[in-house]
Amino acid sequence: MLVPPHGGRLVDRQLDEDQATDLIESAESLGSLTLNERERNDLEMIGNGAMSPLEGFMGRHDYRSVVDLMHLSSGPGWSIPITLSTKSDDPEVSPGDRVALRDEEGLLWGDMLVEDVFQADLEAEAEKVLGTKDPSHPGVAYLEGLSGTYVGGAVRSIRRREWEEFARYRLDPKETRVLFRARGWNTVVAFQTRNPVHRAHEYIQKCALEMVDGLLLHPLVGQTKKGDVPAEVRMFCYETILRCYYPETRVTMSVFPSAMRYAGPREAVLHAIMRKNYGCSHFIVGRDHAGVGDFYGTYDAQMIFDRFDADELGIVPLKFEHAFYCRKCQGMATMKTCPHDSNQHVFLSGTRVREMLGRGELPPPEFTRPEIAEILLESMKSRESE
Ligand code: ADX
Repeated sequence: MLVPPHGGRLVDRQLDEDQATDLIESAESLGSLTLNERERNDLEMIGNGAMSPLEGFMGRHDYRSVVDLMHLSSGPGWSIPITLSTKSDDPEVSPGDRVALRDEEGLLWGDMLVEDVFQADLEAEAEKVLGTKDPSHPGVAYLEGLSGTYVGGAVRSIRRREWEEFARYRLDPKETRVLFRARGWNTVVAFQTRNPVHRAHEYIQKCALEMVDGLLLHPLVGQTKKGDVPAEVRMFCYETILRCYYPETRVTMSVFPSAMRYAGPREAVLHAIMRKNYGCSHFIVGRDHAGVGDFYGTYDAQMIFDRFDADELGIVPLKFEHAFYCRKCQGMATMKTCPHDSNQHVFLSGTRVREMLGRGELPPPEFTRPEIAEILLESMKSRESE
């Protein structure tokens, strides 16, 4: 038996082809709200049930309850507000209106029955959700660019982004659930990532896999910040490492079409809840999960889970200490398992890796598998020559 979805029922707000055709016709006479990239990511994930029990963008009660108490007003735990902010050219809308949801080019993505229009305190949101008001934090910079007028209401979605290169890795929660059942997996550990899989990632994934039936490699391919490795390059790395170093029968990969919020601890909880909706019973939380710069402590994203009752979230966080290669142990380890001095440990920061690649050097095999190092070097060269 797989874990039940958050709130007990997998939400489905995607329209089928006939319904979508009707909506496309009727939307001509509706007012439109404009969705930015993150909001489109969220619409897609509300639509496919990854954000169950949400059926739409949050109204003020859920918003305040989530920001202040990390729970939806109806009770279940939830750590990050999922909101739609009005844009400067949007018409005024009121509760009871049905509105079209479009992107900046006017393309229709869905509709919404407006239930609430309210002014948010974005500074308080930043402070409570992101833990900072510093505009150098990408999440704070995002909030600073918003109008602060949020529109809440149930949505229906008709479209998801077209990434042809990922098409065969796109599985909605109901599809991952079918896949896990077909493979006979009851317990599945999910691994969130926005980076190529390095040795430390591989180590914690495989330690986790020793305890459960299957591993879902679930790379985030929604909006990320500048400087992160592009999703197309990462996908090639994932395909390669899975082929070379993972048993096919125990591992599967699918893309996670969510935007990155860089909200550290709060995002770790959201990541876990969403993976539960995909049917995963366990979720890996390592060092500085979903962190950026020095905004969060190394293990803050693990400690936040203690603020929920054990069975409240319904997915087990598997917490891993900072992992590295130890030359003395001749293998991967953490401070929990390795007694040696840190000068025996190989660990490279993202910046260091970028510098090495920039000089045309391959990161060492203790840090990353050679097949992955080659791909990263090649992609760095081709990006430089563009
Ligand atoms: S994240 O933004 O998606 O968290 P990243 O892709 O680097 O970034 O991390 C994926 C997962 O691996 C996260 O749970 C993170 O905490 C964990 N992780 C990354 N590097 C290490 C490491 N060296 N040791 C332990 N856990 C790690």
